[in-house]
Amino acid sequence: MTAGGRATDTARRAAELRERIAYHDHRYYVLDDPEISDAEYDELLAELQRIEAEHPELVVPESPTQRVGGAPAASFAPVRHRLPMLSLNNGFAEEDLRAFDRRARERLGREAAAITYMAEPKLDGLAISLFYRDGRLAQAATRGDGETGEDVTGNVRTVRAIPLSLKGAGWPDAFEVRGEVFMRRADFERLNEGLHEAGQRGFMNPRNAAAGSLRQLDPAVTAGRPLSFFAYGPGWVPEDFSLPTRQSAVLDWFADMGIPVCPERSCVRGTEGALAYYREMAERRGELPYDIDGVVFKVDDRADQQRMGFVARAPRWAIAYKFPAEERTTRLLSVDFQVGRTGALTPVARLEPVLVGGVMVSNATLHNMDEVARKDIRIGDRVVVRRAGDVIPEVVGRAGGEREPDTREIVLPDACPECASAIEQEEGKAAVRCTGGLVCPAQRREALRHFVSRKALDIEGFGDKLIEQLVRAGAVSNPAELFSLDAQRLQDFERVGPKSAQNLEEALAQARETTLARFVYALGIREVGEVTARALAGHFGTLEALMQASVEELEAIRDVGPVVARHVSNFFAEPHNREVIDALRRAGVHWPETRPAAERPQPLAGRTYVLTGSLEGMPREEASARLQALGAKVTGSVSGNTTAVIAGENPGSKLAKAEKLGIPVLDAAALEELLHSP
Ligand code: IVH
Repeated sequence: MTAGGRATDTARRAAELRERIAYHDHRYYVLDDPEISDAEYDELLAELQRIEAEHPELVVPESPTQRVGGAPAASFAPVRHRLPMLSLNNGFAEEDLRAFDRRARERLGREAAAITYMAEPKLDGLAISLFYRDGRLAQAATRGDGETGEDVTGNVRTVRAIPLSLKGAGWPDAFEVRGEVFMRRADFERLNEGLHEAGQRGFMNPRNAAAGSLRQLDPAVTAGRPLSFFAYGPGWVPEDFSLPTRQSAVLDWFADMGIPVCPERSCVRGTEGALAYYREMAERRGELPYDIDGVVFKVDDRADQQRMGFVARAPRWAIAYKFPAEERTTRLLSVDFQVGRTGALTPVARLEPVLVGGVMVSNATLHNMDEVARKDIRIGDRVVVRRAGDVIPEVVGRAGGEREPDTREIVLPDACPECASAIEQEEGKAAVRCTGGLVCPAQRREALRHFVSRKALDIEGFGDKLIEQLVRAGAVSNPAELFSLDAQRLQDFERVGPKSAQNLEEALAQARETTLARFVYALGIREVGEVTARALAGHFGTLEALMQASVEELEAIRDVGPVVARHVSNFFAEPHNREVIDALRRAGVHWPETRPAAERPQPLAGRTYVLTGSLEGMPREEASARLQALGAKVTGSVSGNTTAVIAGENPGSKLAKAEKLGIPVLDAAALEELLHSP
């Protein structure tokens, strides 16, 4: 064989290896369904690396040895936002907008004058925080729960719309920009076509496609996804840096630095101006190259914004005026009954597929049998289907016109369609329930799905298909039994390769360390959502105290009404539930316990602090929360009532004011001491 012949063979082998590795990467990272063991995979990669080391001329940029930003991450690191990422209050009707404007004028003491608003489309993507240091993109994070997001820097760096370095000069040394990552409709169609051609499942809509693409652990996958970005506001900026005084000017400034902003933004005056903008955008919505689900109005003057402040998780100075949900008519083909976590039977309409708001809908909820009767819906009817954002599509009612001759009545089954247990209807309630409890596979499945979900114990990797198999095989009949699974056992199930089995085992190990609020939420007590779970955990401090609480005690808690109190009390009275809780604790599920709110010492009660500058080792929100937990008040401005100003690095005018008023100034070390004062 000639030397040339050998070189060609080597090149061919390298190409083949690249192809095989790419194939297995895809199976592993995207499909979560590996075909070969880690060792076999490593062998392929090692061979390719060997060839490339010997023949550097064979290295191509798309080689798996040359991935964008290095190897894929195992998970995203948490990022604490310097300022919480808030949401917006929603309005759905003209009256909501008028009320918003009225309140704004009242708060600003300008009843007679029209306010200038910055009007922007409400982009339908996902919020992202970009942190620039010395003009270079240093970090990107998702919104997460608003306090803590995920570090997606590697992925965001692949989004070509997001500048890696800023144009011009004059930007602060470090600052944060917030905006929306989204996918244009045409890009979405093309992406889905490509995925389908490759035999993969496409995304439901551009929003899911954007979110799914940004949360890829492998930046190389994200790099292949056509994502777009518009900035919509500032995040954290140094205290000594003056932003432009108006929201509109801030967006113009972003544009000057090369950060994309939405070209549809516009300043409007008063409600009339806002309504005109809303109507125009509603009309042009379909022509825009991207999905929007409403418009946002923000008080343009940033000093006015500051004066208005925030309520709960949203600014008082902004409102999202949402477009009405889209509706279409189609035919009702049949009705199935789905059993939920609490046994409730929901009639689900099977429909002739119809495109509603860009999504093909073939199933929609009919809510319950009372609604079916009230709307007088029969199988075979033409019905109106509505879909709003991410909510489940619903059958709104019967379409107009004559009823066709051969329609059939929708009848409730005699027994649970999943476990054949009797079904019952509570006195005066619309819901019909399966009485099978955890004997019913559907209820078990739903309870497990809830238990592993993100806001509950957040056990990654336990998808619907795996849970279905676990329940069917009788491997897991309650959440505690999940923790008896190990990698060995998990590999017995379909689509679980050795690597994912290992990951699942690790996810279970990690989930054992949780918080009381998550644990209470995960239990799936009827009507106990996240907020209630947090209120219960905060109030009682320990699970024991919560389990012993009387209905009266429970009712006395803010966010807990009489119905919820009864559900909570009944839940803990049930021996089976107590057994599962015991088993969970025996399996090692634990959380830090605190004392009940009422018994926690409040050594700082009656004191008022102001925080300024960046405190070493502690985000300002955390300092503020911890001071408040000890009974202190934390305010934003220095006055005669201020006990002390706590100043970190780069303090602003607040420090000067404190000095002028002769108010004590504490540093980070003094703050630490304060937080540990008995
Ligand atoms: S401003 C404090 N402007 O809507 C205000 N948000 O419900 C923060 N969104 O998480 C948001 N377009 O992801 C703002 N022009 C726009 C927006 C927008 C879309 C999203 C954003 C945010 C959510 C708030």
